[in-house]
Amino acid sequence: MHLKVLLASLSLHAWPSTPNNATVLYLKEGASDQFMMQESNAVQPKRCVVTGGAGFIGSHLVERLLTDGHAVTVLDNFSSGHRKNLQSLSSNSKLKICQVDIAEYEQIKEHFVEIDWVFHLAALADIVPSIEQPLSYHRSNVDGTISVLEAARQTGVKRFIYAASSSCYGLATEFPTPETAAIKTEYPYALTKYLAECYVLHWNQVYKLPCISLRLINVYGPRARTTGSYGAVFGVFLAQKLAGRPYTVVGDGNQTRDFTFVSDVVQAFIQAAQSELSGEIFNVGSGGTYSINKLIALLGGDKVHIPKRPGEPDCTFACISKISKALGWQPQVGFEEGVAKMLEHIDDWREAPVWDEKSIDIATRQWFEHLGESKGSETPHSKHKILCTEEALCSATSSEEHKDCK
Ligand SMILES: NC(=O)c1ccc[n+]([C@@H]2O[C@H](COP(=O)([O-])OP(=O)(O)OC[C@H]3O[C@@H](n4cnc5c(N)ncnc54)[C@H](O)[C@@H]3O)[C@@H](O)[C@H]2O)c1
Repeated sequence: MHLKVLLASLSLHAWPSTPNNATVLYLKEGASDQFMMQESNAVQPKRCVVTGGAGFIGSHLVERLLTDGHAVTVLDNFSSGHRKNLQSLSSNSKLKICQVDIAEYEQIKEHFVEIDWVFHLAALADIVPSIEQPLSYHRSNVDGTISVLEAARQTGVKRFIYAASSSCYGLATEFPTPETAAIKTEYPYALTKYLAECYVLHWNQVYKLPCISLRLINVYGPRARTTGSYGAVFGVFLAQKLAGRPYTVVGDGNQTRDFTFVSDVVQAFIQAAQSELSGEIFNVGSGGTYSINKLIALLGGDKVHIPKRPGEPDCTFACISKISKALGWQPQVGFEEGVAKMLEHIDDWREAPVWDEKSIDIATRQWFEHLGESKGSETPHSKHKILCTEEALCSATSSEEHKDCK
């Protein structure tokens, strides 16, 4: 049949966007659903740079970009990332891995030539060491970002997506916390991530580099980073579970976190790269907030309580209505499902440090010494108490001010 006649006699069915944003078209002839043609308007293959691509989130992003048919150059100095995070992808001819420090402009700039999309995730990302080593954090997170921005500008990169951090909100008092909330950086990690975000937006404003900043929050998933320092709760608890030790719960365990699954974060990066928007900041969260006690109930096992520490929020909960409206992005992985996936991959934490009350106490004392505070003293931080119970959140989200954040 001539194509024109065929098309006239057919009705068109567009499937909803698939996760890789490819719209698949099926053509239906007469009464019989006969598959006639499958066409994909998937994004044309892009050439991408992923800084920090050997890290936790970066390696998931690299995997997704390669699956979608894009070519990826990873720039990573392996300070906290691992080659094994990319091992399953190493035979892919579209993947290039370069060991380099992003702060070394002369060494990275050649990798940006003819690149379409830059995803800038490289950073020193543990909180406690940032208090101990502010200079190296400034170098990787701020100088490194300027170096990557300048390489992207000089080579005419088309899209630049930055992995910012919701730690810029500090001990927030507004829940769900919108992008317009006050900036209150509490420690060098948060400050360096925020300063780098300012540079990203400045390169957009001054040089018209098309940039988007995604403020991530409590990201979890397989391969989540576990360095030697005391850090994110999932790594601590899963290593304790494997060792048959009780979970060390800070305070009463009623504090809540906006745990966001890594595949949802990756999807936000992809949608930000595909969009035409620039100069925007978006929160990327789960749309909820979950208590540590709930996490323990899902993981199963015994717990011990350890004292609360200064600077740790009672609640993290990002408002995601801006990104939902602007990019049509929504988280897909619920908390129960995400925790089940973590348990499926529990072997990822076999070599992670197993923390107990004593080793946490020692690490915490060092942390306090750097902050010039004595352990347990009444500090501005320890006075901070925000109720983030389910009831409090319901009343917050039902108010006029937060109607977009329900
Ligand atoms: N994981 C979270 O919950 C979370 C939350 C908010 C923001 N972020 C941001 O997302 C990004 C990725 O975080 P992650 O959890 O995957 O951390 P990660 O430590 O697993 O990954 C960071 C990667 O950057 C690399 N890197 C660090 N300094 C570098 C340098 N100077 N040159 C080259 N490579 C360097 C590391 O080797 C590592 O592979 C970071 O920018 C982090 O600040 C993460």
